[in-house]
Amino acid sequence: MISKEKLQEYNNKLAGIGLALEHTAEGLKLTDGELSIMADFREMLPRLKQSNLQREMLVKAARIKGQEMPQLLVDATAGFGEDSLILAAAGFKVRLYEFDEIIAVLLQDCMERAAEIPELKDAVGRMELVCGDSVAGMKNLDYKPDIVLLDPMFPARQKSALIKKKFQLIQRLESPCSTEIELLNAAEAAEPKRIVIKRPLKGPYLADRKPSYSLEGKAIRYDCMVYAR
Ligand SMILES: C[S@@+](CC[C@H](N)C(=O)[O-])C[C@H]1O[C@@H](n2cnc3c(N)ncnc32)[C@H](O)[C@@H]1O
Repeated sequence: MISKEKLQEYNNKLAGIGLALEHTAEGLKLTDGELSIMADFREMLPRLKQSNLQREMLVKAARIKGQEMPQLLVDATAGFGEDSLILAAAGFKVRLYEFDEIIAVLLQDCMERAAEIPELKDAVGRMELVCGDSVAGMKNLDYKPDIVLLDPMFPARQKSALIKKKFQLIQRLESPCSTEIELLNAAEAAEPKRIVIKRPLKGPYLADRKPSYSLEGKAIRYDCMVYAR
């Protein structure tokens, strides 16, 4: 759990943009005094049933056929960690990088709460969060990941107007920004067997690079780059 001193330090910075972190009985929240947002894996439970997981497009895009689990995956753009949770529940071992310290602290709090929930604790046990820039991190890994996942943008794909409004709180954080090319180059420098890139269905290729193939859903597309290693 985040210390009082650290919370105060973050809140001093957040005050400048009209936001605050607040401890509640449910967990740590980011609020503007009216709306609030928190990372919460409990909402993901229905998607985590083994029978459902095998149908998840993300799992199909990431899994390397013929290789046993756990396959090692780096999620270079963790956000609220929902994609990583799906992958960890499907058996991947996931290292997550999040460079925005406020998003990272919300995710850390969410993971700590999830570790106490019987249906989530095994999956969360396969997740390791690093608060830092994955562009630097992936160039200095002490192992070769099998897969790198990239999902750099919070695009307007959330469903309801309320959820969109809540995500505007996150957009106010003005996170630092690495370019698409830096991110893709760093992912390639980690020498994975595959890079999976999550895009809006009609969105352009990341860094204009054509993938080996794509999997398409209703609103989302996974561009997969496959490397012979
Ligand atoms: C669209 S969100 C990812 C959502 C995530 N896939 C999920 O399931 O919740 C993108 C996140 O990546 C983070 N990010 C972008 N570039 C990054 C980098 N170079 N290193 C670490 N985090 C990064 C942003 O701060 C943001 O929180």
